Amino acid sequence: MNCDLIAPHYWWIEKLGMGRTLERRRRWFLPEIGNARRALVLGDGDGRFLSELLRRNSAVRADYVDLSNRMLELARRRAGTARVGYLQNDALAAEFPRNEYDLVATHFFFDCFDVGELEILIGRITEATKPGAQWIVSEFCAASLPARLLVSALYLFFRITTRLKTRSLVDHRPILRSHGFRLTGASYSRGALVVSELWER
Ligand SMILES: C[S@@+](CC[C@H](N)C(=O)[O-])C[C@H]1O[C@@H](n2cnc3c(N)ncnc32)[C@H](O)[C@@H]1O
Repeated sequence: MNCDLIAPHYWWIEKLGMGRTLERRRRWFLPEIGNARRALVLGDGDGRFLSELLRRNSAVRADYVDLSNRMLELARRRAGTARVGYLQNDALAAEFPRNEYDLVATHFFFDCFDVGELEILIGRITEATKPGAQWIVSEFCAASLPARLLVSALYLFFRITTRLKTRSLVDHRPILRSHGFRLTGASYSRGALVVSELWER
């Protein structure tokens, strides 16, 4: 996947297609994660969640990881460098410190991976978290026929614009559970098309 081409247009394409729904989902659990001090923000794209996290939590320091250089530059411009380390890398390959983070954030990121990759990703990231760590997830759900059609259209869009190889949404919940995370909150938008979740290890 290469998001460089769509990076500067990502926000308005999202707004055109989904209004403020995804932004609301990303922010939903921010009031619950105010105690976080070390955050790992994966695949955050243009940094809209990252900048909001920093604005609301003046004590948190974050590491941001994204494959796309242009996304990273947009995030850096938006969120600054004072409390953030930026890394352009594949989250499946990057080295993470062990037992470091008390918060992980992945918004509309799990959908970039097939089941084998997601197993590896969640396993690696779990090792980087502290016991009691929180993990916030926003994701699409393809539970109904209209939702499945929309998710298929989104995959087609990303296949054309970013050469995304993944073809379908993986259920991340059993994988997070198998790595010791427990779902402590979930909130839905648009008739359960989009979900925000809060997990705790
Ligand atoms: C669908 S976008 C979501 C962006 C943002 N999180 C949001 O809420 O809109 C996926 C993001 O993950 C990044 N990405 C995809 N695969 C990645 C990987 N293996 N490692 C790191 N970043 C990746 C892309 O560059 C892109 O910025």
